[in-house]
Amino acid sequence: MFVRHIIVTFASAVSLTHGSQPQKLLSLSNDNDRYGPSIDCAKKNANFIFNAVHSSMRQWGNSLHHNGLSLYPAMIPQGTLLYHGAPDAKTPPSFEWLAFEIEHAEMFAISWEEVGQGRPSRQSILYSNVEKSTANAAHTQQEWIFEPGYLQIYQANRPLRVLYIDGSSAAKSPFGTLDSQDLIILDKPRSHREELERAKDLCTLGAEWGIEGFIRMEAGFELIKCDFSDGFDYLSHNKRPENDSLKGTEDVFFVEYMRDVASRYHSIGARRVVLDYSSMTSAFFYPANLSSEDSGDYDLSLPRVMHTEHDQLLRIRSDLKEAVFRQTSVHESVDWQGVVDMIVLRFADRLTLLEADLSYLRMTTEIDNLLNMYIDFSETRPNITESIETCSLHYLRPVEPSTVQDHLIYAAIKTATDKICTTLFQAREHLLSCTA
Ligand SMILES: *[C@@H]1O[C@H](CO)[C@@H](O)[C@H](O)[C@H]1NC(C)=O
Ligand SMILES: *[C@@H]1O[C@H](CO)[C@@H](O)[C@H](O)[C@H]1NC(C)=O
Ligand SMILES: *[C@@H]1O[C@H](CO)[C@@H](O)[C@H](O)[C@H]1NC(C)=O
Repeated sequence: MFVRHIIVTFASAVSLTHGSQPQKLLSLSNDNDRYGPSIDCAKKNANFIFNAVHSSMRQWGNSLHHNGLSLYPAMIPQGTLLYHGAPDAKTPPSFEWLAFEIEHAEMFAISWEEVGQGRPSRQSILYSNVEKSTANAAHTQQEWIFEPGYLQIYQANRPLRVLYIDGSSAAKSPFGTLDSQDLIILDKPRSHREELERAKDLCTLGAEWGIEGFIRMEAGFELIKCDFSDGFDYLSHNKRPENDSLKGTEDVFFVEYMRDVASRYHSIGARRVVLDYSSMTSAFFYPANLSSEDSGDYDLSLPRVMHTEHDQLLRIRSDLKEAVFRQTSVHESVDWQGVVDMIVLRFADRLTLLEADLSYLRMTTEIDNLLNMYIDFSETRPNITESIETCSLHYLRPVEPSTVQDHLIYAAIKTATDKICTTLFQAREHLLSCTA
């Protein structure tokens, strides 16, 4: 069973769309609240919300849609292993980065001798793994000599409360991947290079909000853990080999690294992160200007919050804070990703097939297979309007929305299934009319 309780009637969903106020957490916007979340916004951005939920904690969708604008209070279960590559075996005294995949951390398991000064950038470390032991950091013209470091392994000794930032949120790019961190969570526009300061600010905020770390994604998922002395057992710290055959073999290490990353295309695996979908806070719930163009058009392919009104961003931030604070006590989360997966697995491949140049018989068979279950053939003239509604609601029936976020996600998913079912029934009508 992929959801908590059984059965919500259509009536409760309908009454919501007519403005009744659900009971918990945030409230939906009314006329006096121009910045609040609304069912209309959720419907308008239905595809984005549907995709965000489907892709959450998955490498594939968050690489395609690299500008994530959704945030999820989350939990890393007790027992979860996390990997930290470091120059030495010492536990970091403050915040640091850990990887969910081994090769991702191995990449940073090096020490360096500076020929220039300062700490090498991550780019130069990445580069060093290809270029054997020395690297010339492209940005700074500095040189480092790299030596083997340590792979530190930590284990959560209790559930960790974290915040998941979706999209390719660890990609230090100017394209919008950092928008939700800098502009929503931290309320602090800045250059994409200021990564240390960003992590420090996240952890300062984390201390205030009761968040112990932040999950982000680049090539692989990572955790910025704010305090290594709390919630972690230090399992091991093995030194890396002097002449690492893997790292020495130029591309082989990267192939192995990418193999690791690709293995998480569709799941982080083993429930290593549990998202609280019912507390999801997404810019897509709000009447926010998500344009990424100065020209002003709402660029659907690349939503950003760079042109969003400051008051709107502050509102999303305060709703996020509320969601974080009330997360664990108020409710259990609905498994919205489970619901969306059921829909995607039922329809995605078949819709792709239907785009092809199929024979009449093949097309009819495919569509009948998808739709017949929603039609009462004892009626001489089955009520197709009713069938479309039944079809749209099918995978939503086991869910009982509880929080406002649940209702917003529900509305987005329902909009998507409405579109799928309406289109399929139209195709069916069309095919039937061809035989007549
Ligand atoms: C590591 O490789 C270098 C260059 O190939 C070689 O000179 C050195 O002796 C090797 N060191 C060890 C410990 O194998
Ligand atoms: C969104 O922002 C852009 C850029 O500032 C602006 O040109 C556009 O008019 C805005 N769109 C709306 C609907 O306000
Ligand atoms: C078909 O079902 C819809 C929704 O239940 C209803 O409003 C409509 O009157 C029905 N149409 C007929 C012809 O019975």
